[in-house]
Amino acid sequence: MQYRPLGNTGMTVSLLGLGTVKLGRDQQVRYPHAFRIPDDAEAAALLDCATELGINLLDTAPAYGTSEARLGRLLRGRRSRWLVCTKVGEIFEDGRSRYDFSPEHVRRSVERSLERLASDYLDIVLIHSDGHDREILTQLGTLQALQELKRAGLVRAVGISHKSADGAACAIEVGCDVIMAVLNPDERAEASVIARAGVAGCGVLIKKALASGHAAPQSLQFVAAQPGVSSIIVGTIDPRHLKENAALLDTPPEAS
Ligand SMILES: NC(=O)c1ccc[n+]([C@@H]2O[C@H](COP(=O)([O-])OP(=O)(O)OC[C@H]3O[C@@H](n4cnc5c(N)ncnc54)[C@H](OP(=O)(O)O)[C@@H]3O)[C@@H](O)[C@H]2O)c1
Repeated sequence: MQYRPLGNTGMTVSLLGLGTVKLGRDQQVRYPHAFRIPDDAEAAALLDCATELGINLLDTAPAYGTSEARLGRLLRGRRSRWLVCTKVGEIFEDGRSRYDFSPEHVRRSVERSLERLASDYLDIVLIHSDGHDREILTQLGTLQALQELKRAGLVRAVGISHKSADGAACAIEVGCDVIMAVLNPDERAEASVIARAGVAGCGVLIKKALASGHAAPQSLQFVAAQPGVSSIIVGTIDPRHLKENAALLDTPPEAS
């Protein structure tokens, strides 16, 4: 497994990270195949497989159903081995998303994430944007609330899972530590801002590198080769896919 610095955060992340939507939520998701949320034994086996492959980064969110609470149980006794990224701002209840980017919500949401993850710190907390990236970052006090939690030692790095290239540009301008961006061979609109983030010392996590399961696994090699990318967060619940993805990222594209 390759490791890369997460911008200037001081954290070193595995090039392949594990996305955990499918560990906790099966409603309102856009995957090509129906799936069943893994049971506890399957989820534990998935994490063991990730550990064996050298993966050290997990991505979750309050909006991913039971994902955070399940990770809290699964990581018991081995929390410090992992870097955990979670989010604030999106609330998924009764099959629907709503959003709250107020500083009060940010503080409550981080408190609840700490409880669910059974941890006294969070490595990365990102704003789970609804698309109004620039407004959220510059007008609502959301980022400032996260930065206060960082100063208080509850959070190590803060940023945004944005929805547009302009949102990523704004995140760099306002000094986010980390962004979460979309990049795959068919969706390259953010490639140049991702490269700029790298130069600016902003860590870059990639979501939807496989276009949510619609792109070939080899897309990972394209994404890994783009400047600025710190880690590729692939959402899988299948250990065979996890191993295949790790192997692809260990193989130079011309050799595969
Ligand atoms: N913050 C946000 O707004 C946001 C939005 C979307 C995603 N995310 C994060 O990014 C992560 C990844 O995004 P994503 O889940 O939408 O998309 P993705 O990683 O591009 O694709 C995941 C899909 O690809 C399939 N897959 C993975 N490896 C495969 C392989 N080797 N062969 C065939 N199929 C494979 C998975 O199915 P199997 O389970 O069968 O492997 C899953 O259905 C999420 O889990 C989440 O953590 C964040």
